[in-house]
Formats: sequence, structure tokens, C-alpha cells
Amino acid sequence: MKSFFSSFLVLLTVSFACAGEIIRIDTKDNSLVFKVQDQKLYQLWFGAKTGDKLAALPHGTAFPAYATFGTGEVNEVALRVTHADGNTSTELLFESVIKEESGPGIVQTRISLKDSFYPLRVDLVFKAYFAENIIEQWAEISHSEDGRVTLYNFASAQLSFKATSYWLTQLHGDWGNEMNLKESRLTEGIKIIDSKLGARATMYATPSFLLSLDAPGAETQGETIGASLAWPGSFQVALEVNRMQELRLLAGINPFASQYVLDKNELFKTPALLYTYTNGGRGQVSRNFHRWARKYGIRDGEKSRMTLLNNWEATYFDFNEEKLARIIRDAASLDLELFLLDDGWFGNKYPRNNDQAGLGDWQVNKKKLPNGIGFLVKESQKNNVRFGIWIEPEMVNPQSELYENHPEWVIAQPHRPPILFRNQLILDLANPEVQQFVFNAVDDLLRANPGIAYVKWDCNRFIQNGGSNYLPADKQSNLQIGYARGLLSVYEKVNKAHPGVQLMLCSGGGGRMEYGSLPYFHEYWPSDNTDAIQRIFIQWGGSMFFPAIASCNHVSTVPNHQTRRVTPLKLRFDVAMMGKMGMDLQPGQMSAEEFAFSKSAIATYKEIREVIFRGDLYRLESPCESNRASLMYVTEDKTRAIFFGFLLHRKVGEFLPGVKLQGLDPEKSYLVKEINMGPGKNSYLSTHGKVVNGSLMMTSGISLPLNNEYDSIVIELTAH
Ligand code: DGJ
Repeated sequence: MKSFFSSFLVLLTVSFACAGEIIRIDTKDNSLVFKVQDQKLYQLWFGAKTGDKLAALPHGTAFPAYATFGTGEVNEVALRVTHADGNTSTELLFESVIKEESGPGIVQTRISLKDSFYPLRVDLVFKAYFAENIIEQWAEISHSEDGRVTLYNFASAQLSFKATSYWLTQLHGDWGNEMNLKESRLTEGIKIIDSKLGARATMYATPSFLLSLDAPGAETQGETIGASLAWPGSFQVALEVNRMQELRLLAGINPFASQYVLDKNELFKTPALLYTYTNGGRGQVSRNFHRWARKYGIRDGEKSRMTLLNNWEATYFDFNEEKLARIIRDAASLDLELFLLDDGWFGNKYPRNNDQAGLGDWQVNKKKLPNGIGFLVKESQKNNVRFGIWIEPEMVNPQSELYENHPEWVIAQPHRPPILFRNQLILDLANPEVQQFVFNAVDDLLRANPGIAYVKWDCNRFIQNGGSNYLPADKQSNLQIGYARGLLSVYEKVNKAHPGVQLMLCSGGGGRMEYGSLPYFHEYWPSDNTDAIQRIFIQWGGSMFFPAIASCNHVSTVPNHQTRRVTPLKLRFDVAMMGKMGMDLQPGQMSAEEFAFSKSAIATYKEIREVIFRGDLYRLESPCESNRASLMYVTEDKTRAIFFGFLLHRKVGEFLPGVKLQGLDPEKSYLVKEINMGPGKNSYLSTHGKVVNGSLMMTSGISLPLNNEYDSIVIELTAH
């Protein structure tokens, strides 16, 4: 992760082929152990730290570390290639292992394997993030055969397990309904979670999943593995239970229709699989990922974030200078920190007045904004608000000057009609010329307007008829991988050219929630659905892998534009506060009372946001299992905590017990204070204003005054 920032590698050990060699990849609490036997590499163990007690490992737990096709395997394989001479088999032998310190607290282990006959190499590379208990693994494949090698399977990682039962929790969804958790028991055979979408790849399924061993997944206990593939393109996670009840897990780029034609001496680097193990249930998996992500997995994860006002739901495409200037002034009077101008600001010959035209023509629309972006930047500056802007630079509408000039740049199949989605086509990022165009679109905008502090990068369609005008006929199947790599290279160039600009990762909502993109982005837009009730579920799912600081949660108007549901303003704020809060409405349309509540909520949020951004998350009551949902964030030193509770559904005769808090210091006492009640409101929390022992609140719990549907509460706990 963040490869372009890392500079140093300190060599620790090197060793060459040696029978019986044990290779250990250790984090603070986890061990991944390999063994070399008959020149082949086997996984001995992945789980709780083994120390040196390897002899105590159960008999027969040696699994191929990276299974290959053609030399005896009868299960799914990590690697299947056709060599330049047509041979379809591969046999990998251990060659060497190198251990290096690749940063403070990070040890990189490179295990080199080589085919027993062909000049084909595979390096398995592991970065162990010691304190965070995360392992990042990828493969590097290359050859010097006379001709091309075709890769048909090329997993990032293979992991094997032996348990009495396996329970998979996947995250699936759709537009406006992202990140639903679903658990199933794995039975004999293969379960595949995948995306074939190429771009906006996580729209229906995500490459993040949880695996519980021996029992269904639980929040606070049980052997649990969490894994996430860092890749913005199509992915595949295959879980195969064999006749011996062993589980083989393979994760990587989706090989479907993507066999990769690899030239002599070209390096094929797979994306990384990130994973962690704990016997502390899903909660600990999430805390491991969040801590890792804040340090390594998202951009500037240890810095703060700005509250913002977005005009998407406020105006959609219908705005002019006057309307926007008013919204900017209103944002300022609410003490919001940034105004974000959404879709609709560009295109002249084909103005972007709806979603039918203009994508690709990134020149300001002179009719709507005669004084350019500069006017809005100045208006923002005058009001002490920063300015941000939306862009969707990978896309083009057929009704655009870009399409008139470069019809050859779109992804399409010859002799087939182009397939439109939201009236748009997708540009072929496998083509370096297109990569340059996409970079320039962002770069020109930022250079022309140095006052832009924030960019929302959107992507509203996926690849459906993948043909590239750039790639030769015999490399058409390289397109999806070329697209994803092209995209990552543009992200990297934008980051380098504009280090001070913050970026939001958006894809029609949460279509790009993955760690291949997030190192280049400060935050992500989890869903276009801003309904507070459904957001509780979407944010809950997202929190399994992604930290609160990266989740943009916006307060919008009622009836909600997606669900038509009417919820209290307080509930909308309380839900948005569980991450990086913003607003998506016209403050000018609020009543005086709503305005006053919003202003005080924004001020409250600023006082507590660092606890939410940096605290450890404890999910207490799941909205999927109860009519009440609650969670809390606790600072690392356990001196401050913020609790959120919601009554989603009122049921006569249901008497919900007190909620047991988690993560506090049992030795400390805490001042309990209900916050975000709005001006002049009293608290009905029985412990409000009292000092209560941490241990008591974790064992007996606290009772919550949530009696009516959509009631919500925010509680601050401060060590006394
Ligand atoms: C989809 C995004 O998710 C929305 O927030 C908005 O930016 C629209 N695109 C604009 O077209």
C-alpha cells in the first residue's frame, strides 16, 4: 500500500533452497507459516501466533502454498498458464526467501518459486504490518520463454484451513442498497463471490469478506478471518471445501474472460489481498482493518477531515451562480467547512443540464456559470468556506464534443451497437493516450483553479461489452486488467501533482469500496441513498472493513429523495455523525428551528469528530438482528468515547434491556453526558451528568431513553 511513498528496504535475511526450511510471517498476534518440503512450498499454519511450538501443530496440516494446474492438482488452483510451447502444466519449486524491513513495523518476505522446467518465476510477497495484525500478500509472475505465456488463473493469495465448519459473511448490494451482510455455511464444492463489472466493480458484490471457523460469525468472539482484495476492477474470491473438509481460499483478479497474454520479461503483479486473523470475532477484525487503514490504507488517514455541503440533492442539475452563491453563504452560516459543487457545471455545445449530454467536455458551462469556477471559488473564500468540485473523467456521453472528436477512445466491440448505461460510454483506460486525457481533465481543472481544495471523483457505469480499439487482436482479453491498472496510474499521477487536494471516491454511491483505490482517496461515498434508516444498515456493513473517517455521511432533506421516508432531523444528524459528516440539502429551505438545530449539531460534531475519526469501533447491537442499533467509538487511551443508539422500529410489548458498552477501561470512571439534543432540550438518559464506573457500564449496561420509532441518542463519555 502507498507504494509511491515508501522508500526504504532494510535487508534482514536471505536464504536459498533448503529442505525442511520453515518460513514464518509474524504479526503481533498472528502467524502464517510455510515449510519447504521436496523443494515445494507448503502452508503449515495461519492463525493465532504459534511461537516456536510448530511441533504441536496437528498432523497433516500442510497445504500447497500456491497450487498450480497440471501436476496432480484436482482442485481450484492459484496459477494456470499455457507456456509459449503450448504446455499447460506448471510445477513451482522453492528457490529463495528474502526478508526485509520495508518500513517501521513492516517486514516484507519474498518467497521466490521457479518452474522445474520452464523459465517462469513466481514470487509470493508478504508484507506483515506487525502492530496492526494485517498481512498484505500478492504474487509477481514473469517468464523469459520464447514467446508469450497466457495466464488463465493468477490468484493474489491462497490460504488453506482445516476446521469443523466454515461460515462465510459476504457483503452484497446494489445501487442505493450497498453493503448488506449475508452469512452462509460453506458446503462441499465451490462458492464464488465475484464481480465482472470491470469499473464500478463493487456495485453488486465486494471483495471484502469474513470467514468464521467452527461456528457462525459473532461480534466479540470466535476464530475469524477478514480479507479484502485491493483492486478497483473485477475480482474473484473462490472458497472450495474438498472431500476432506479442508477449505482452500483463492482471491484475486477475476480470471473470467480476462486471460492475460504475458510478454517475455514482462512483470505481472497481482493486486494485494489484505487479511487478518483473530479469535475475537468480527469486531476485532474491523478494528484491525481500521487501524491499518488509517495508517496505510487511505490517504492522509491520520489527518482530519472537513464538514461539507454538497449541492447534489439540493439542486441536481438546476443551478446558476446566484443559487450557488446563496448555498455557499448558508453553508458558511452553518459553520460548514467546504462547499462541494456536484454534476452539471460543464459542457457548452452539449450542456450538462441532465444526464444525457456533456460528459467528457470538462469546460465550464458559460450559461450557468458565466464567471467561471473562479467566481464560486471567490464566493467560497469570501465566506471562509473551501471549495470542491465533482468530476467523472473516465466517462463520455455520445452527445459530447469529446465523442465527436474521439469515438475510437470508448470501450466497445466492433460490429456491435454500443451499450449505453446512464446514457454514457466508458473511456478505454488501457490506452495510454486516454490515461493522459483523463489525467489532464483533472489536472487542467485544478491548475486553472488553484482554490479547489477537494474533488469528488465519480464513476457511474461499468464495462459491459469490453473491446479495445487500442489493444491488438490477440490481447483483447487484457482489457479489464489494463483498465484497472490505467486507472490506478492516473490516480497516482493526480495525487503526486496535487498533494494538497482532498479526494472523495464515489461510484454512483458505493461502487468502488475497496483498498486498491482508497490509498489515493481521503474518503468514499457509501451510497446515493441518504435515508437515515437505510444508511444505518449501509454504514454498518461498510464499517466491517472501512474506518469511520473515510465514510462520507450526509444529512439530507425529508421526505427522503430515495425512500420518501420522513425522519427527524436529529436522527439524520446522529446517523451522519457516525462518520465524516456533511449535508446534501438547501439550508435556505429549512425552518428557523431546523437551522438552529443544524448549527448546534455541526458545532457538537466538531468537538467529538476526532474520537470518531481515530477511535476504535465497538459495534454493540446490530440493526440486522434487533429493532435497536448501537455502536461506540473509544479513543486508544480509553479516556473518551462516543456512543450512538437508534430505535429503528417500535414494537408494542418489546422491552429492550440496557445496552452493555465495550472497549472502556474497567478501572476508570466516566462522566456520562447526552449530547446533540439541540438547543434548550433536556436529557432523559438516567445516567446523564453522572460519573459511572467503566466496568459497571460494560457488565450491567446503561438503559436508553429510546421509546419512539426513530428516536436516537448520542452520549459522550469522558474519563473522570
Ligand atoms: C452519482 C453520485 O453518487 C451522486 O452523489 C451524484 O454525484 C451523481 N452521480 C451526479 O451525477
